[in-house]
Amino acid sequence: MEKVLRNVILFLSKNRLLTNLAKKYGLRLGAGRFVAGESIELVTRVIKGLNKKGLDVTIDYLGEFVDNEAEANEMAEHCIVAIEEIGKKKLKSQLSLKMTSMGLDISDEVVMKNMCRILEKASEHNVFVTIDMEDYSRCEKTLEVFKKLKKKYNNIGTVIQAYLYRSANDIAELKKLRPNLRLVKGAYKEPAKVAYPLKSDVDENFKKIIKMHLLNGNYTAVATHDDAIIEYTKQLVKEFRISKYQYEFQMLYGIRAERQLELVKEGYKVRVYVPYGTDWYGYFMRRLAERPANVAFILKGIFKK
Ligand code: FDA
Repeated sequence: MEKVLRNVILFLSKNRLLTNLAKKYGLRLGAGRFVAGESIELVTRVIKGLNKKGLDVTIDYLGEFVDNEAEANEMAEHCIVAIEEIGKKKLKSQLSLKMTSMGLDISDEVVMKNMCRILEKASEHNVFVTIDMEDYSRCEKTLEVFKKLKKKYNNIGTVIQAYLYRSANDIAELKKLRPNLRLVKGAYKEPAKVAYPLKSDVDENFKKIIKMHLLNGNYTAVATHDDAIIEYTKQLVKEFRISKYQYEFQMLYGIRAERQLELVKEGYKVRVYVPYGTDWYGYFMRRLAERPANVAFILKGIFKK
């Protein structure tokens, strides 16, 4: 039953009509639990609050599947404003973004032009930028763009998804670029042709790529809310005496907030991924799909109003 619900939610997450309705009617239906707000002012306030608690941040101006150049340029402009804000206010925050919002589905030229604009500004303000990983159909192209940009800029990283069969090969192939990578389980609905259908296999592969990347000597962001994976990472860094400057934990805003603070108290670096902006629908639906129990939470919120 849970699997059916997850698939229905993921299917709805890609619906353009629903995305437009969500944009129009703003942050409703309890999405505020996972999204910091619609404006840069609101997200700045959230970053300051998290920084005060000892948490680092990465912000994401929400938006995906952009199919015209003007909109892609506008998305890049939002990223530039965010970088300037981080720099000016000396916030402990990085930036995350999606290639499809920068024009990946339009042309190589558009996406490269927007990424270079963003990375120039980010270099100026010493801000690190992570390219989120989207669905499998964009994985190869995203990695190609990342490799090109990594040769020119040092302040860029990307994401590898443990549910994909290809992920260990990608880690091996990227090794020589000494990349800073965020490792995740993977959030999209993918066929068994390309991704492990069983959660237990995804978890095993997650552990495998964490070990590979750490032992390759490269910076590793372990992005998970799963205590078993967090424990595994702690043991691994202890066993192999890996410096605390070579890894961090990452979690999403609104999920396991107390655990984030516990890890900080234990002396680990923790970064919270904070999304903001009006286009929150796809992101919000993926969070619901990860934990259909949250649907009950959202429904309760609606009916209480
Ligand atoms: P898992 O789903 O097994 O959850 C473990 C436990 O965490 C659950 O039992 C529950 O207690 C808690 N939990 C998990 N999700 C929850 C939720 N939504 N609400 C409440 N509790 C929840 N994916 C991707 O494909 N591309 C990307 O670029 C990124 N980027 C990214 C950045 C960061 C910082 C994080 C933390 C995650 C991503 N992801 C992602 C999402 C990732 O792929 C994955 O879908 C989620 O992190 C959920 O998987 P977990 O590793 O948390 O384990």
